[in-house]
Amino acid sequence: MRRKSLFVIVGALACVPQQLAAHKPVTSKYTYEQDVAPIIRAKCAACHRPGGAAPMSLLTYADAYPWAESIHVELIANHMPPAPADPSFAAIQHNRVLTAREADVLLTWATGGTPRGTPSETPTLETAPTNWPLGPPDRVVTLPEPVTMAADKSEDTREFTVKAGTTSEWIRAVDVLPGNAAIVRNVSVFAKIGSHPSDDLPSEALLCRWTPGQIPTDVSTEHTAFFLPRDTDLLVRIRYRKTWQYDGRSMTDQTAIGFYYAKGTAQQLRALSLDSPEPLDATRDETYAVDVDHTLKAIALRVDDLPPNLTVQIESIGGDGAHIPMVRFSDRPGWERRYWFAQPIPLEKGSRIEIHTTGHDPALIADAFGGIDKIDAASTPSRLHMELDVVARQ
Ligand code: HEC
Repeated sequence: MRRKSLFVIVGALACVPQQLAAHKPVTSKYTYEQDVAPIIRAKCAACHRPGGAAPMSLLTYADAYPWAESIHVELIANHMPPAPADPSFAAIQHNRVLTAREADVLLTWATGGTPRGTPSETPTLETAPTNWPLGPPDRVVTLPEPVTMAADKSEDTREFTVKAGTTSEWIRAVDVLPGNAAIVRNVSVFAKIGSHPSDDLPSEALLCRWTPGQIPTDVSTEHTAFFLPRDTDLLVRIRYRKTWQYDGRSMTDQTAIGFYYAKGTAQQLRALSLDSPEPLDATRDETYAVDVDHTLKAIALRVDDLPPNLTVQIESIGGDGAHIPMVRFSDRPGWERRYWFAQPIPLEKGSRIEIHTTGHDPALIADAFGGIDKIDAASTPSRLHMELDVVARQ
């Protein structure tokens, strides 16, 4: 598919737009400038802008129309925007998803001759957002040294340990400012808390899981906060990925992590991890017994452990048998997220968490990922680790 798109680009450079359009009669009532551009700015531009995580900008008509066929394919496959939670299953905060109308506008335009419309007066949003969406953090930790991705590498993972403050801290948000937005694909920040023998706290608590364009979650809006004992070691894991646009180029990054302190009193958000008893397998449901009384705020599946060709559906089943939908998503490598529920979910002793997975057609997946070599290795079943953010029930 990538090859096809490149071919279209070469074609576009060789002929003038009118000639290309002449191949396809204009049937779309929607135009780029009036209808498509606002959707692209709202739902695609976080990545599809110059210097962004995506391989091409879609911000202007000239940028976007050569990609019409590819946009059609990606939207039909539900690949873009990446990794949304299925909104018809359960409500997730800051869910990056197209409404039915937005999808209809983009598809009608992409398949209906890509008319331009009247160029608008609104200046194009050309540059990357280079600041912190939640405002300046209370503390910024810039990674100790720049990371260089060699010209012949397309993927890389680096880990750094940095120290939390010299006094204990209550944290309401942790955010990431990539040094080079074109290659930073996924960042996880863990606190190495050290488990208490009598406690269910894992030795690493997930403070932040970041993907490009993500709106950071401020947990103080629900009167909760993470607690970091002084001098805690923080593990920062950065996954780099180069898209074809940068093939053969060496790229450098020095990412910064921002910490926002909580003000006033808050209930402690605690990390709970659950491991699947058996390796994950697309033909079977996984069930986790819950033996604590908690309220669940968020769920994340641990990076690396999930085969990419699966739709994953997670729900909780109360002692009385009532099902509460939690999240449903299709797994794509590099886009692992932490999902914050719009409504906290009660987890009582005696309830269960059930994970139901459905396989996709591997040929379709390989096509969609064209060239990413992880696919085969990652389809081996592996044990699944869930990381839950909980508060004690009051
Ligand atoms: C969070 C970042 C992000 C957002 C938001 C996003 N994309 Fe993408 N897009 C990517 C990345 C990165 C790729 C390259 C493939 C990959 O690594 O998954 C891509 C690939 C594509 C491709 C395929 C390009 C090719 O090489 O064939 C199309 C088409 C596309 N995106 C369209 C869209 C549209 C339309 C939207 C909005 C409705 C959108 N994307 C939103 C990051 C994003």
